[in-house]
Order: sequence, then structure tokens, then C-alpha cells
Amino acid sequence: MSGTRKLHIKSYGCQMNVYDSQRMTDTMAREGFVEAAAPEDADLIVLNTCHIREKAAEKVYSELGRIRRLKEGAARAGRKVVVAVAGCVAQAEGEEIIRRAPVVDLVFGPQNYHRLPDLLARAERGAKVVDTEFAVEDKFAALAPASRAATRARGVTAFVTVQEGCDKFCTFCVVPYTRGAEVSRPVARIVAEVERLADAGVREVTLIGQNVNAYHGEGPDGAWTLARLLHRLAGIDGIARLRYATSHPRDMDAALIAAHRDLAVLMPQLHLPVQSGSDRILAVMNRRHTRSDYLDVIARLKAARPDMAFSSDFIVGSPGETEADFAATLAIVGEVGYAGAFSFKYSPRPGTPAAERDDQVDDDAKVERLARLQAEIDRHQAAFNETCVGRTLDVLFEKPGRLPGQLVGRSPYLQPVQAMAPASLIGEVVAVAITRAGSNSLFGEVARPFAHEPAPALASLES
Ligand code: SAH
Ligand code: SF4
Ligand code: F3S
Repeated sequence: MSGTRKLHIKSYGCQMNVYDSQRMTDTMAREGFVEAAAPEDADLIVLNTCHIREKAAEKVYSELGRIRRLKEGAARAGRKVVVAVAGCVAQAEGEEIIRRAPVVDLVFGPQNYHRLPDLLARAERGAKVVDTEFAVEDKFAALAPASRAATRARGVTAFVTVQEGCDKFCTFCVVPYTRGAEVSRPVARIVAEVERLADAGVREVTLIGQNVNAYHGEGPDGAWTLARLLHRLAGIDGIARLRYATSHPRDMDAALIAAHRDLAVLMPQLHLPVQSGSDRILAVMNRRHTRSDYLDVIARLKAARPDMAFSSDFIVGSPGETEADFAATLAIVGEVGYAGAFSFKYSPRPGTPAAERDDQVDDDAKVERLARLQAEIDRHQAAFNETCVGRTLDVLFEKPGRLPGQLVGRSPYLQPVQAMAPASLIGEVVAVAITRAGSNSLFGEVARPFAHEPAPALASLES
């Protein structure tokens, strides 16, 4: 093969797939691959897939149809393209993917990303390769870190996986099967990664994990909790904001709640999925908490940090869900007063206990409940956004906004905020007077551009 080889990765699903795709890109950069923006230009195409709902999983196959035509075209021009399927569909379906889509050369699961250079070499020799074994070696240690240039190109916010996998086994969910058992990365490695990001200009880090608040990574003196880790990371120069996602209500311990009171850099926003407002459905889901346990956690967080804003995930039409159960879900939206939420129709997933039940809810009811729930969520989101009008919020500017001369950034509560501001403010936390609320974003005017110390690491961010 002549010239530089090119890689195109497309990510589906959750933030962890975004992070994983970046680490695969970094690892392949070490092998001489550069990123191609379009699949047409790539020698290696990786689809990093999601299996959470049927729709997400099926997307992969329509994309593979397009890629087949692309690969055939390249072959006619004498160019070989390797097609790989990674991620949670790869883990769940394995070689079935190659049977259904013979265009695929390589299938590998989330615990095998660090082996990509070797797997690719085997695929290039003409073999069909499937690797969905749960690796025993430390994947994260084997993956290459991002270069300074790659980090800068990705912007001033970054995800860092601190925990992966899940031992909770909610009855509807594939994640414990696709990601495997809960594993926490050691403290020292996370600290080193965040320091490296901060040094390259990152100002906001979101610690991610399927169950991030179950974090129990090895520290210098035994296992550390997420609260301790946050305290440590808060001291890193250049880091202006910390967030973490996704949390399970059962694992919100007192120290983590107190961290929201004690750490100014820990943002007052929390994604805390409740899934349903009905105790009966929560039990069927094996969530291992009740509605009142959940509301108690919310109350304790609000007591620790009065301006705390919450978001959630909801599933409607779970097996056995009645109108009364659904009414309890609608009611909890108002009770918590969510700033936003995602809601989904229950999708039976192969191999999960809920899919086996014979009390499935029919699709018409799911569609109707989803619409009602979304309307209720939208109403509360709009009300929350309205409460921000007239206030001055700290905004971390991230990139150019919708209109010329505008920048867009995020408020502490994760709302996008558009304001007229010079590009030199990208990477700065700036006080913005909020003048108007749209359906998804806020609009405002820069109030005090240098309310905060400019970060020295950012002086040459645009170079
Ligand atoms: N680890 C996180 C979220 C995992 S998946 C947690 O514990 O909350 C993200 C969301 O997808 C879930 O919160 C849930 O609302 C939704 N989801 C998971 N499985 C689903 C299924 N089978 N059908 C519909 N939605 C599902
Ligand atoms: Fe899935 Fe439940 Fe684990 Fe979240 S806690 S990843 S919903 S099994
Ligand atoms: Fe999807 Fe896997 Fe994330 S199923 S939501 S990509 S953990």
C-alpha cells in the first residue's frame, strides 16, 4: 500500500463510543493512519456501534449497504478497503454480522480495541476476523494517548472513561452483556490523562462510565471513590469544570453528594436516570430502588447545592406497564422539575429477561405514552430555561455559533448558550447575561468577559 493510510470511524450510541473512537484513532495514528472525514477516502472504515435499542442496532446494517457499494467501487479502481464493525453490536452479534453483511472484514468488541493494529493486519492478509473475547489485559494502558494536536482539534471539552461495564443487570438492558463486568481505571492513570488534556487546552472534563458513580479505582492508598477522584482532579491546573455521567441512583453516596457542595468546579447538573416513576415497574426492571429512594437522593443533592439541575432517561411501555404506572412516570417529571430528559419506547433486546416476558405492551400504547411524556418533559425544560432569563450565567465558550460573530458554549446546567463574542474567548469561562430562551438553547450578551482568570494554556489554542 502506498502513501499515508486513512481511517474513517463513525460512532453511534453513547459518549463512551465517542471516547472509544477517539482512542482508536489515536492508536491507529501511532500506526501511521490519518483521519479521513468521509468514508469514500478511507482505507479502513470502522463503524463503532450501539445495541441499546433495535433501531440503533439496525442503523448499522443500512450503513453497511452504502459501504458495500463504496468498497466495490474502490475495488474496481484497484484500492482495497477494510471494513470493521466495532462496539456493542459487534459484541452482541459477533460473526452473525459477517453472515448478514459479507462486506465486513473485521468484527471486534469494546474490550478488544487495543488489538486493532493486529486484527487489521490479519484482515489485510485476507482473513475474516472476529474478536469478541473479553480481554484480560489492560485495554486502556495499551491504547495510545491523544497527541496535543489531536486534543486541540477536538476542542475545549473532553470525555475521559473512568469506569466501564455494568453489574446492575436491569432487566431491559444489554449493556452488562456488551460491555462486560464493572471495571474502574486506576487513579494515577486518570490523573495523568486529565493533566495531559488540560495541558493541551481542555477546560472541561466529563468523567464517563456506564455506572460512573460506582467508580472504585485503585489509588495510592487503596480503592478510591468517585468523590475522592473528583477532589483530586479539581486541583489540576487549567481544569475549570468537571462533570460525570451516567450515574445510578443507588450509588449516589454521601461523599459524592457533599462534593457538589464543596467543589466549585463540579458543575451543578446531574444526569440521574430514573427510567420509571412506578415502584411496580422499577421492581420489574430490577432497578433496586423505589420512587421515594430516588426522590430522597434528589432532595439531598438539592440541599447540598440548591441550584442543582437534573436530567433523566425514561422508558415507556416496559413489559406490564399500565396506565397507572405511566401516570406515576408523568408525575415524577413534575415532582423533580427536570431541566431536560431523554425518553424511549421500550425495545425488547435479545437475551435480556424483560424481552422474554409475555406481558409486552403494544406499540400504539408506547407511541401514545411517549408523546405525552415528551410533551411533559418539554414543558418542564422550557420552564427551566425561562428561569435562566435575566440571570447571568458562566458560559464556557466552545466554538463558533449559528450566526457570524457568535460563539456557542455551555452554561453550568449544560444548556447551549449563543452570544456575540470574539473567537479569542473560545476556551474561556465568561459571564453571560441571558436575554432569551429558545426551545433548546439560551441567548445572551457577554457581561464581564474576563470575570475569570484567562487560562495560560489556551493562549495559542487557535494555532
Ligand atoms: N448506564 C446508564 C444508561 C444506559 S443506556 C444507566 O444506568 O442509566 C441509556 C438509556 O437507554 C437508559 O437509561 C435507558 O433509558 C435506555 N434503554 C436501555 N435499554 C433500553 C431498551 N431495551 N429499550 C428502550 N430504552 C432502553
Ligand atoms: Fe443498563 Fe441498568 Fe447497567 Fe444502566 S445500570 S447500564 S440501565 S443494566
Ligand atoms: Fe449503546 Fe453500548 Fe453505549 S449499547 S449506549 S454503545 S454502552
